[in-house]
Amino acid sequence: MSVWAILVAAGRGERLGADQPKAFAKLGDLPLLAEPLRRLDESAWVDAVVVVAPPGWEEPAILLAEELGAGKVRACVAGGETRAGSVRAGIAEVPGEAAAVLVHDAARPLLPEAVIERVLAPLVEGWDGAVPALPVPDTVKRVGPEGGVVETLPRDGLWAVQTPQAFPVEVLRRALAGDAQATDCAGLVEAAGGRVKVVPGDPLLRKVTTADDLAWAAALL
Ligand code: CTP
Ligand code: MG
Repeated sequence: MSVWAILVAAGRGERLGADQPKAFAKLGDLPLLAEPLRRLDESAWVDAVVVVAPPGWEEPAILLAEELGAGKVRACVAGGETRAGSVRAGIAEVPGEAAAVLVHDAARPLLPEAVIERVLAPLVEGWDGAVPALPVPDTVKRVGPEGGVVETLPRDGLWAVQTPQAFPVEVLRRALAGDAQATDCAGLVEAAGGRVKVVPGDPLLRKVTTADDLAWAAALL
């Protein structure tokens, strides 16, 4: 089964507030993008990688891949306005003969090899997708615009979902047809009627959103 990875790195990083897009903010000595790219490239499960860069940053992304010796990178394309748009740009580069696709956020740099293995396993059993997730430790409330609590969600069965997310290529391609939006790919597959399995995630997959998250990740490099 040939596995292609789409590394989505095209966001602006508004909450991080750096001068450049988040993927090019420094994590240690290198741009943030370097760490997840190197890990996907070195994964025993991944055959090929597509990098989705911020528009205008394709060239620096290609140079970075060369500098890292990331020989599995097959394409580097510009992303879209939304995350789903960026995944669409990435999957357009994945050939028909690929069996599975992994979609990973560049903003989750500390990608463990074991999680890649865990999300791919359910595809062999016929699932339409698999996502890593952790149980939500806090009580979650929906809050209205004035700050008033609208409802308290029962915490039982609530999971915080991470990436990488794995899908049979054609399942994700179909879910992305049209211009549906979702904050993760599994949401699109679910909306199209797909069965998605949750597997154990990893605290190391915390998403870098703010400067504090970047410092946390740098300390763990
Ligand atoms: N992403 C993308 N294309 C977009 C938006 C997001 O490829 N149009 C990617 C980001 O680069 C990131 C992942 O999706 O790797 C998760 O998005 P998020 O953490 O929200 O990153 P940003 O959108 O860059 O950050 P912000 O929302 O603070 O602007
Ligand atoms: Mg965003």
